[in-house]
Amino acid sequence: MLIAGQLLIEEASAGRSGDTADAPRYSRDSAGLPRLTGRLAGRCRIEPGMVRVADGRIAEVILGECSAAADLGDPQHLICPGFIDAHLHLPQGDMIGAHGMRLLDWLNRITFPTEILWQDSDLAERQARRQLRRCLSVGTTGIGAYATVHAEATRRALMAAEEIGIRGVIGQVLMDRQAPQELCRPATRLIEETAELLDRFPPGRRVAAAVTPRFAITSTPELLAMAGKLAEERGAIVQTHLAETAEECQEVERLFAGRGYVEVYVQAGLVGPRSVFGHGIHLDADDRRKLADCGAVIAHCPVANSFLRSGTMCRAGLIQSGVGIALGSDVGAGYELSMVRVARAMIEAAASLNDPIPEAAEAWHAITAGNADRLGWSDAGRLAVDAPADLLVIRPQIPWLEGPVDPLARLMFNWDDRWLSQLLLRGRLLRD
Ligand code: GUN
Ligand code: ZN
Repeated sequence: MLIAGQLLIEEASAGRSGDTADAPRYSRDSAGLPRLTGRLAGRCRIEPGMVRVADGRIAEVILGECSAAADLGDPQHLICPGFIDAHLHLPQGDMIGAHGMRLLDWLNRITFPTEILWQDSDLAERQARRQLRRCLSVGTTGIGAYATVHAEATRRALMAAEEIGIRGVIGQVLMDRQAPQELCRPATRLIEETAELLDRFPPGRRVAAAVTPRFAITSTPELLAMAGKLAEERGAIVQTHLAETAEECQEVERLFAGRGYVEVYVQAGLVGPRSVFGHGIHLDADDRRKLADCGAVIAHCPVANSFLRSGTMCRAGLIQSGVGIALGSDVGAGYELSMVRVARAMIEAAASLNDPIPEAAEAWHAITAGNADRLGWSDAGRLAVDAPADLLVIRPQIPWLEGPVDPLARLMFNWDDRWLSQLLLRGRLLRD
């Protein structure tokens, strides 16, 4: 199959954090506005061309010509990799909109009661399928996701992802204290269950299990240490939350004998190059250095951060410290599933801090190759020969290529999900 249009091309593949080959730098553009450049702030451009798809993979990328003989697309279409959402919660899709609460209240009053429902594995599977299909409906073809504490529900979610064809890491949430008794399980049992999930869905597979302690507050030091050991033994991705609110940080200090939040995770062996920490708003320079030294990643969740009024993450500060940043919807604290709108929120969050504002070219990179790199998927999120053909054909209903505004910015700020005309998963058309 031949697909023609404006191809979204990655200009720089971002390395993982700690990579100092091309360290991030502040500079000023011609209007005197601050900019961040360097390897950790990758970017995209558009170029007319064609992508040939065969056997589920990208067989050829042809730049410069748009043949009328193409099977799909035309020169007014954007052809881009499927979007990647680095942080979301599969059971929380139906609780979006529970506003007016701060994090810990929101967890206790809305989130935990919602997640208890996943003890019914059939219900869990239905909800997981629905959420995965919703992801596809907004162009997301890869996810870093949390399930619940229930092993069978998590297994069903992993199997549903495999069957639907979406790429993903999905973790059983680990909790052994400070949550309703229905959601707390003995640490040893939880670790055995996650180990079994890792046997069935090992790292490196298109759908893989992850080691996912919810956050320090709902984990004993023993659970965290066992989770760190398991992740290390298996080479698994670690997902957890970190420093989302000031109140949470204080509670962690209280529970862990005055230790700082990052240090708690470091001591448990949870901070490494495969660790993806949600939020990371309330971090000092020392915390940032530790994360950068270990090559850990922060999943920036700007929509959720403003929804729960948790604070505004300083993306520029983290990048300058050498910390890699992914981008996540964090549904259901986040109410936007579309990664284009999450990327827009990232730009708005930076603007609200008067920080260097990411250009649209960086924002498109963040939701494609940037997120792929942060999840360790070097062959995802880019139009590259041999990469799995997870592709979007976007037909904007505006003359986006004309006029004075950067076309990628025009697309992002006018974004309409109805423009998503076709989606391919491993080369298979989802919409006919
Ligand atoms: N911290 C611990 N659990 C959660 C969760 O489910 N959502 C968010 N936003 N933060 C958390
Ligand atoms: Zn989260």
